[in-house]
Amino acid sequence: LGKSEACNVVVVGLDNSGKSTMINHLQQAKAEDDEPYIPEEVAPTVGFRVETFRRKNVSFTAYDMSGQGRYRNLWAQHYTEIHAIVFVIDATDRMRLCVARDELEMVLDDPSVRSRPVPILFLCNKKDCADAMGPAECVAKMELEKIRERPWSIISTNARNGDGIEEAIEWLADSIS
Ligand code: GTP
Repeated sequence: LGKSEACNVVVVGLDNSGKSTMINHLQQAKAEDDEPYIPEEVAPTVGFRVETFRRKNVSFTAYDMSGQGRYRNLWAQHYTEIHAIVFVIDATDRMRLCVARDELEMVLDDPSVRSRPVPILFLCNKKDCADAMGPAECVAKMELEKIRERPWSIISTNARNGDGIEEAIEWLADSIS
């Protein structure tokens, strides 16, 4: 990551997947460092929840995707440029994995994403749960191997205790630069 450039990372995923927990973990990790963390305010959009957090020069913005495409084109309102996408998957939610796959399709179809090889990182979250799917199962069921036009990866995480989150941040940093 360039030191002076601001990077916009968009965090998406179905409701209950762990987006807020992941962002909270980043905030706490930051609070233990010397640098103060900067929670950012974003004007709320009707029926659409947004959370943001900035760590060094990387601005994370979490969007809830529980609506049917109502967030479409909203990214463009917040950002002129998206540098990376984090897609949080609830690895215990087998029932809605196909819903997550549809949401992913919509994300990849967004004009601001389609036009550029924005890297996308999947978090196979809630890995601490006994019934959690492993990354290989998520890759197969989400058909991630179809993604050929951009760098992508999948990392197992426990957003509650932060397991895997540093690895995730590193992958993002490497992929953005
Ligand atoms: P919305 O705000 O509804 O969009 O959900 P979200 O994606 O922000 O999920 P949130 O962070 O609120 O987490 C949903 C629930 O899952 C909470 O009860 C979390 O404590 C729990 N959770 C999140 N990550 C993990 C994890 O890695 N392991 C376990 N066991 N629970 C988790």
